[in-house]
Amino acid sequence: MFTSPTRRKFFFQAGAAGLGLWAGSRRAQAEPPSEAVRIGMIGVGNQGTSNLKAFIKNVVAVCDVDSTRLATAKKLVETIGGKSCDAFGDFRRMLDRKDIDAVVVTTPDHWHALPTVLACQADKDVTARSRLA
Ligand SMILES: NC(=O)c1ccc[n+]([C@@H]2O[C@H](COP(=O)([O-])OP(=O)(O)OC[C@H]3O[C@@H](n4cnc5c(N)ncnc54)[C@H](O)[C@@H]3O)[C@@H](O)[C@H]2O)c1
Repeated sequence: MFTSPTRRKFFFQAGAAGLGLWAGSRRAQAEPPSEAVRIGMIGVGNQGTSNLKAFIKNVVAVCDVDSTRLATAKKLVETIGGKSCDAFGDFRRMLDRKDIDAVVVTTPDHWHALPTVLACQADKDVTARSRLA
């Protein structure tokens, strides 16, 4: 069963399939909301939706240039995650949000670099999913 990682205990580690992240320590049910890691998902296609489901309790925002996929991801978080979820067509607007701690980049390979660099500059923890990493 997935439980939310805490801010202090949160870390990413590479998975066997190169997923690139997994929330480490999990004991957030006893933690106040301010301690929960808040995640934004950039790219919610095939792999992005898979990643989204893994982190759904911590996802507070989703981003995709495809409005249909964006709406589906937002609905998924709000239905399964049980809380409101902001939706962005431009990942830069997501990165403007100071309350987002980490982002997961699951765009196509050629769109990994820019969101990753800008997310780091915005002081987010970041991981990008690739078949190569
Ligand atoms: N499909 C797989 O089996 C698989 C396995 C391992 C890793 N990966 C990796 O995962 C990544 C994504 O693959 P996928 O199969 O999910 O692709 P996908 O095309 O299904 O999803 C990518 C999503 O990113 C969105 N997108 C594109 N540019 C964007 C941008 N600038 N801002 C926001 N959203 C943007 C697209 O609209 C799409 O919804 C790739 O790097 C791929 O190599 C895929």
